[in-house]
Amino acid sequence: MRTEPSSAEVRTGRITLHELQKHYGRQMAVDNVSLSISPGEFISLLGPSGSGKTTTLMMIAGFTMPDSGQVLVDDNDITRLPPHRRELGVIFQNYALFPHMTVFENVAYPLRMRRVAKAEIETRVRRVLDQVDLSTLGSRYPHQMSGGQQQRVAIARALVFDPPVLLLDEPLGALDKKLREHLRNEIKTLHKELGKTMVYVTHDQDEALAMSDRVAVMHEGRIRQVSAPRDIYRRPADLFVASFVGDVNLIPVQIVSGAVHGPAHEALPSMHWTGADTKATLCVRPEHLCFDTPTTGGSGGLKGRIVDATFVGDATILEFLSDEGMRLKSKMLNLSAGSLPGIGESCVASWAASDAIVLTE
Ligand SMILES: Nc1ncnc2c1ncn2[C@@H]1O[C@H](COP(=O)(O)OP(=O)(O)OP(=O)(O)O)[C@@H](O)[C@H]1O
Ligand SMILES: [Mg+2]
Repeated sequence: MRTEPSSAEVRTGRITLHELQKHYGRQMAVDNVSLSISPGEFISLLGPSGSGKTTTLMMIAGFTMPDSGQVLVDDNDITRLPPHRRELGVIFQNYALFPHMTVFENVAYPLRMRRVAKAEIETRVRRVLDQVDLSTLGSRYPHQMSGGQQQRVAIARALVFDPPVLLLDEPLGALDKKLREHLRNEIKTLHKELGKTMVYVTHDQDEALAMSDRVAVMHEGRIRQVSAPRDIYRRPADLFVASFVGDVNLIPVQIVSGAVHGPAHEALPSMHWTGADTKATLCVRPEHLCFDTPTTGGSGGLKGRIVDATFVGDATILEFLSDEGMRLKSKMLNLSAGSLPGIGESCVASWAASDAIVLTE
């Protein structure tokens, strides 16, 4: 039987999603999503457009009702509780500020909804505006502010009633790169200071990797992997995660009698495969590919030549074409010393076996 708590009971911010399902017509927007989020954790939902991130977040927030499954906060089932009784701060993708209200009134709104006394509202709004560096802009209207400032107002409005959980849907989506990086650090700092559980939706892998304790990678309504950023990148669970998070070279290999067979045999990892012989894919990140001259290169590398080079500032992206016709991408830092192979140069490509991942999907 469901227990529906009063909002005051929802406090520490542990969130459990149990087999959440939501479809629109024949479209499965969210397909059997289960996830356990610890109190104070910063977790990102990362995935391409249409993968079900917003739908999942809105089911936590209570604006979207799941077809089946449960949302629990601190072991209380809140699946059927209306949004305003969930004590969750929500920051929407487009900020959703009230255009006819000043900054102060926007931030005060959730407190008014909760019938907090006027003097108390004044104190709390001032405090939270101070926290997000907007103390001098309280009387402005949203259209008189920059995108970054509006975004801070949205954060202040979500923080003002001190919810244990903040839900953020692409809060930095509309901002330029420099400002995104600045605000992402501010959100991280807020997270450290306030210790609130944060669920952060983004399609930006750098953002997810840089900010999160754990990242949940979504694809077509399902969670494909939930891990710490380093593990998502170093140990992707499947080809989708490997390709979506960071650049990767995908090299077809075979598993025969439990061992990996493919090009560059010295650079193939050993594995404990007990299944039947199968096709597999070797994943090698561009920064793990290195080049030797044909004379010094080990016999296990791939012979070929550099066919393209693109300068991207801190690094150069080299494209390698093996004698067998396989194209591989390499990312080399532009260090002050040392030169990179030039276009047309013959070389042998290899990588450390420990940097390669075999995926049998
Ligand atoms: N109200 C709705 N009516 C019909 N279909 C919807 C509705 N909301 C979402 N969908 C569909 O559900 C799927 C998941 O949508 P959702 O908004 O959760 O994706 P998202 O991962 O947030 O994408 P984006 O990065 O573009 O914001 C999509 O195919 C979308 O078209
Ligand atoms: Mg979305």
